[in-house]
Amino acid sequence: MTRPDKRAVARSLAQKAWAENRPLEWFEELYQQAKQNGASIPWGDLVPNPNLVALYAKCQNIPLGRRALKIGCGLGDDAEWMADQGFDTTAFDIAPTAIERCRERFPHSTVHYFEADLFSSPDEWNGSFDWALESYTLQVLPPAMRHEAIQRISAYVRPGGYLLLIARGRSEDDPEGTMPWPLLRSELNAFADYGLRPVIFEDVLDQQESPTRRFRICYRKT
Ligand SMILES: C[S@@+](CC[C@H](N)C(=O)[O-])C[C@H]1O[C@@H](n2cnc3c(N)ncnc32)[C@H](O)[C@@H]1O
Repeated sequence: MTRPDKRAVARSLAQKAWAENRPLEWFEELYQQAKQNGASIPWGDLVPNPNLVALYAKCQNIPLGRRALKIGCGLGDDAEWMADQGFDTTAFDIAPTAIERCRERFPHSTVHYFEADLFSSPDEWNGSFDWALESYTLQVLPPAMRHEAIQRISAYVRPGGYLLLIARGRSEDDPEGTMPWPLLRSELNAFADYGLRPVIFEDVLDQQESPTRRFRICYRKT
Protein backbone atom coordinates (compact mmCIF):
# COMPACT_ATOMS: atom_id res chain seq x y z
CA MET A 1 0.00 0.00 0.00
CA THR A 2 1.39 3.43 -0.91
CA ARG A 3 1.45 6.50 1.31
CA PRO A 4 -1.47 8.31 -0.42
CA ASP A 5 -3.67 5.23 0.22
CA LYS A 6 -2.76 5.21 3.90
CA ARG A 7 -3.63 8.92 4.15
CA ALA A 8 -6.95 8.26 2.41
CA VAL A 9 -7.89 5.70 5.08
CA ALA A 10 -6.95 8.16 7.84
CA ARG A 11 -8.91 10.99 6.18
CA SER A 12 -12.00 8.89 5.75
CA LEU A 13 -11.96 7.76 9.40
CA ALA A 14 -11.34 11.37 10.45
CA GLN A 15 -14.16 12.78 8.33
CA LYS A 16 -16.65 10.32 9.79
CA ALA A 17 -15.51 11.09 13.34
CA TRP A 18 -15.70 14.88 12.79
CA ALA A 19 -19.19 14.54 11.28
CA GLU A 20 -20.28 12.61 14.37
CA ASN A 21 -18.75 15.19 16.70
CA ARG A 22 -16.17 12.82 18.18
CA PRO A 23 -13.10 14.46 16.63
CA LEU A 24 -10.45 12.56 18.58
CA GLU A 25 -11.73 9.01 18.26
CA TRP A 26 -10.40 8.25 14.80
CA PHE A 27 -6.82 7.97 15.99
CA GLU A 28 -7.54 4.83 18.01
CA GLU A 29 -9.72 3.51 15.17
CA LEU A 30 -6.80 3.90 12.77
CA TYR A 31 -4.32 2.16 15.09
CA GLN A 32 -6.87 -0.61 15.72
CA GLN A 33 -7.51 -1.11 12.03
CA ALA A 34 -3.77 -1.24 11.31
CA LYS A 35 -3.32 -3.78 14.08
CA GLN A 36 -6.06 -5.98 12.63
CA ASN A 37 -5.07 -5.86 8.97
CA GLY A 38 -1.31 -5.36 9.32
CA ALA A 39 -1.36 -2.00 7.51
CA SER A 40 1.14 0.67 8.42
CA ILE A 41 0.30 4.03 9.99
CA PRO A 42 0.72 7.02 7.63
CA TRP A 43 3.07 8.86 10.01
CA GLY A 44 4.69 5.70 11.39
CA ASP A 45 8.12 5.88 9.77
CA LEU A 46 9.65 3.64 12.47
CA VAL A 47 12.69 5.91 12.77
CA PRO A 48 13.26 9.13 14.71
CA ASN A 49 12.01 12.16 12.79
CA PRO A 50 15.02 13.69 10.94
CA ASN A 51 13.48 17.13 11.53
CA LEU A 52 13.67 16.51 15.27
CA VAL A 53 17.31 15.43 15.04
CA ALA A 54 18.18 18.50 12.94
CA LEU A 55 16.33 20.98 15.16
CA TYR A 56 17.57 19.49 18.44
CA ALA A 57 21.17 19.80 17.20
CA LYS A 58 20.64 23.58 17.07
CA CYS A 59 19.08 23.84 20.54
CA GLN A 60 22.30 23.72 22.49
CA ASN A 61 20.85 25.15 25.70
CA ILE A 62 18.56 22.27 26.64
CA PRO A 63 20.09 20.91 29.86
CA LEU A 64 20.95 17.23 29.52
CA GLY A 65 19.69 14.61 31.93
CA ARG A 66 16.47 16.43 32.74
CA ARG A 67 12.81 15.69 32.09
CA ALA A 68 11.45 15.57 28.56
CA LEU A 69 7.92 15.05 27.23
CA LYS A 70 6.75 13.74 23.86
CA ILE A 71 3.20 14.82 23.04
CA GLY A 72 1.20 12.46 20.79
CA CYS A 73 4.00 9.90 20.68
CA GLY A 74 2.52 7.57 18.05
CA LEU A 75 4.72 4.49 17.69
CA GLY A 76 7.42 5.82 20.01
CA ASP A 77 10.48 6.40 17.81
CA ASP A 78 10.93 10.06 18.76
CA ALA A 79 10.42 9.36 22.47
CA GLU A 80 13.02 6.58 22.34
CA TRP A 81 15.43 8.94 20.59
CA MET A 82 14.86 11.56 23.31
CA ALA A 83 15.60 8.97 26.00
CA ASP A 84 18.72 7.91 24.10
CA GLN A 85 19.96 11.52 24.32
CA GLY A 86 19.93 11.10 28.10
CA PHE A 87 16.57 12.57 29.07
CA ASP A 88 14.17 11.15 31.61
CA THR A 89 11.39 10.90 29.04
CA THR A 90 7.62 10.72 29.39
CA ALA A 91 5.51 10.09 26.29
CA PHE A 92 1.78 9.95 25.83
CA ASP A 93 -0.83 9.34 23.19
CA ILE A 94 -4.60 9.36 23.20
CA ALA A 95 -4.72 6.02 21.39
CA PRO A 96 -4.32 3.03 23.72
CA THR A 97 -3.25 0.83 20.80
CA ALA A 98 -0.41 3.23 19.98
CA ILE A 99 0.85 2.99 23.56
CA GLU A 100 0.49 -0.79 23.46
CA ARG A 101 2.63 -0.83 20.31
CA CYS A 102 5.29 1.38 21.92
CA ARG A 103 5.54 -1.03 24.83
CA GLU A 104 5.71 -4.03 22.48
CA ARG A 105 8.30 -2.45 20.22
CA PHE A 106 10.53 -1.21 23.05
CA PRO A 107 10.16 -3.73 25.90
CA HIS A 108 13.32 -2.52 27.68
CA SER A 109 12.60 1.16 27.22
CA THR A 110 13.25 3.71 29.94
CA VAL A 111 10.48 5.93 28.51
CA HIS A 112 7.40 6.32 30.72
CA TYR A 113 4.55 5.67 28.28
CA PHE A 114 1.00 6.76 29.13
CA GLU A 115 -2.36 6.70 27.46
CA ALA A 116 -3.58 10.29 27.96
CA ASP A 117 -5.51 13.00 26.17
CA LEU A 118 -3.78 16.33 25.69
CA PHE A 119 -7.06 18.02 26.64
CA SER A 120 -7.34 16.26 30.00
CA SER A 121 -3.83 15.12 30.92
CA PRO A 122 -2.67 14.90 34.56
CA ASP A 123 -2.34 18.31 36.26
CA GLU A 124 0.97 17.30 37.79
CA TRP A 125 2.57 17.33 34.34
CA ASN A 126 2.06 21.07 34.09
CA GLY A 127 5.27 23.03 34.52
CA SER A 128 7.29 19.92 35.16
CA PHE A 129 9.21 19.32 31.92
CA ASP A 130 12.51 20.90 30.91
CA TRP A 131 11.50 20.44 27.31
CA ALA A 132 8.64 19.05 25.28
CA LEU A 133 8.31 17.92 21.69
CA GLU A 134 5.18 18.47 19.65
CA SER A 135 5.44 17.09 16.13
CA TYR A 136 2.53 16.66 13.72
CA THR A 137 -0.29 16.55 16.31
CA LEU A 138 -1.52 20.16 16.06
CA GLN A 139 -1.84 19.77 12.30
CA VAL A 140 -4.24 16.83 12.59
CA LEU A 141 -6.50 18.62 15.08
CA PRO A 142 -9.45 20.52 13.59
CA PRO A 143 -8.70 24.28 13.54
CA ALA A 144 -11.26 24.99 16.29
CA MET A 145 -9.33 22.78 18.73
CA ARG A 146 -5.89 24.20 18.08
CA HIS A 147 -5.91 27.20 20.37
CA GLU A 148 -6.75 25.13 23.43
CA ALA A 149 -4.16 22.58 22.32
CA ILE A 150 -1.54 25.34 22.15
CA GLN A 151 -2.45 26.46 25.67
CA ARG A 152 -2.18 22.93 27.03
CA ILE A 153 1.08 22.15 25.24
CA SER A 154 2.55 25.38 26.61
CA ALA A 155 1.56 24.48 30.16
CA TYR A 156 3.78 21.37 30.25
CA VAL A 157 7.00 23.38 29.96
CA ARG A 158 8.58 24.81 33.09
CA PRO A 159 9.66 28.47 33.11
CA GLY A 160 13.04 28.64 31.34
CA GLY A 161 12.31 25.37 29.52
CA TYR A 162 11.91 24.69 25.82
CA LEU A 163 9.30 23.49 23.36
CA LEU A 164 10.36 22.01 20.03
CA LEU A 165 7.60 22.14 17.45
CA ILE A 166 7.55 20.60 13.98
CA ALA A 167 4.56 21.09 11.69
CA ARG A 168 3.52 21.61 8.11
CA GLY A 169 3.57 25.31 7.29
CA ARG A 170 1.81 27.68 4.91
CA SER A 171 1.58 31.39 4.13
CA GLU A 172 -1.53 33.52 4.68
CA ASP A 173 -2.39 33.46 0.98
CA ASP A 174 -1.99 29.67 0.59
CA PRO A 175 -5.16 27.55 0.62
CA GLU A 176 -6.07 25.96 3.96
CA GLY A 177 -5.58 22.50 2.42
CA THR A 178 -6.77 19.25 3.91
CA MET A 179 -5.73 17.26 6.98
CA PRO A 180 -2.84 17.18 7.85
CA TRP A 181 -3.45 20.94 7.68
CA PRO A 182 -0.43 23.20 7.19
CA LEU A 183 -0.34 25.78 9.97
CA LEU A 184 0.03 29.54 9.74
CA ARG A 185 2.87 31.29 11.50
CA SER A 186 0.24 33.73 12.82
CA GLU A 187 -1.71 30.95 14.58
CA LEU A 188 1.49 29.65 16.15
CA ASN A 189 2.05 33.17 17.53
CA ALA A 190 -0.55 32.13 20.15
CA PHE A 191 2.28 30.33 21.98
CA ALA A 192 3.50 33.82 22.98
CA ASP A 193 0.26 34.27 24.99
CA TYR A 194 1.55 31.47 27.25
CA GLY A 195 5.11 32.76 27.58
CA LEU A 196 6.73 30.79 24.73
CA ARG A 197 8.85 32.83 22.38
CA PRO A 198 10.69 31.42 19.35
CA VAL A 199 14.47 31.35 19.67
CA ILE A 200 14.83 29.39 16.42
CA PHE A 201 12.31 29.56 13.58
CA GLU A 202 13.03 27.56 10.45
CA ASP A 203 10.88 27.44 7.33
CA VAL A 204 12.20 24.47 5.37
CA LEU A 205 11.30 22.36 2.38
CA ASP A 206 11.39 18.78 3.60
CA GLN A 207 12.33 16.42 0.78
CA GLN A 208 11.67 13.27 2.83
CA GLU A 209 8.52 12.38 0.94
CA SER A 210 7.19 14.73 -1.70
CA PRO A 211 8.55 18.25 -1.06
CA THR A 212 6.68 19.51 2.01
CA ARG A 213 6.99 22.90 3.67
CA ARG A 214 7.59 22.62 7.38
CA PHE A 215 8.08 24.97 10.28
CA ARG A 216 10.70 23.82 12.79
CA ILE A 217 10.60 25.98 15.88
CA CYS A 218 12.41 26.03 19.20
CA TYR A 219 10.52 28.12 21.79
CA ARG A 220 11.78 29.18 25.20
CA LYS A 221 9.38 29.82 28.04
CA THR A 222 9.87 32.98 30.06
C1 LIG B 1 0.00 12.69 13.13
S1 LIG B 1 0.33 11.66 14.49
C2 LIG B 1 2.03 12.04 14.84
C3 LIG B 1 2.66 11.04 15.75
C4 LIG B 1 4.12 11.32 16.11
N1 LIG B 1 4.26 12.61 16.76
C5 LIG B 1 4.98 11.23 14.88
O1 LIG B 1 5.50 12.26 14.45
O2 LIG B 1 5.11 10.11 14.34
C6 LIG B 1 -0.53 12.44 15.84
C7 LIG B 1 -0.54 11.59 17.07
O3 LIG B 1 -1.15 12.34 18.11
C8 LIG B 1 -2.09 11.53 18.79
N2 LIG B 1 -3.11 12.42 19.30
C9 LIG B 1 -4.08 13.07 18.63
N3 LIG B 1 -4.84 13.81 19.45
C10 LIG B 1 -4.33 13.63 20.68
C11 LIG B 1 -4.71 14.11 21.97
N4 LIG B 1 -5.75 14.91 22.13
N5 LIG B 1 -3.97 13.72 23.02
C12 LIG B 1 -2.91 12.89 22.86
N6 LIG B 1 -2.53 12.39 21.68
C13 LIG B 1 -3.23 12.75 20.59
C14 LIG B 1 -2.58 10.54 17.74
O4 LIG B 1 -3.11 9.36 18.28
C15 LIG B 1 -1.33 10.31 16.93
O5 LIG B 1 -0.57 9.23 17.42
